[in-house]
Amino acid sequence: MKKEITKEAIAARHPRSPEALLSLLHDLQTANEGNHLTGADLALAASHVGIPLSAVRDAATFYSMFSLAPRGRHIIRLCASPNCHLAGAWSALDELRRSLGVDVGETTADGRFTLELTSCLGACGVAPVMMIDDEVVGNLTPERVREALARYREAR
Ligand code: FES
Repeated sequence: MKKEITKEAIAARHPRSPEALLSLLHDLQTANEGNHLTGADLALAASHVGIPLSAVRDAATFYSMFSLAPRGRHIIRLCASPNCHLAGAWSALDELRRSLGVDVGETTADGRFTLELTSCLGACGVAPVMMIDDEVVGNLTPERVREALARYREAR
């Protein structure tokens, strides 16, 4: 785990209610090296919020923000929905591929970034858009992609 806190302590921050499932899974995933959920995480979440393990696994596989396989420290999710597509998301994707040296679904050799595509991020007004972890980066141009990557390379 990246942080000196137990998974049980993370769970204890969340209500014992099914409505808490997604935020609990998010926090459990963030606590793991590899930015993914383990089988133990899913079992803990099921037990904590009181729903079947199969329902937890369904949620973890349905939402693109979760992964059951290890990923990079920072997740880059580029919107591939129509508004972003029409606004030039593919030139941003070309720059991401070039700058990172990976394709969609891959993680950089240093384990820093994983590149993913996603559907609408709800920020169409600043299309094309990507998220790096929880940060929305809009009005993407190849230059803005390079600037955003440089910030994450330097600062985190
Ligand atoms: Fe890309 Fe909505 S279509 S953010």
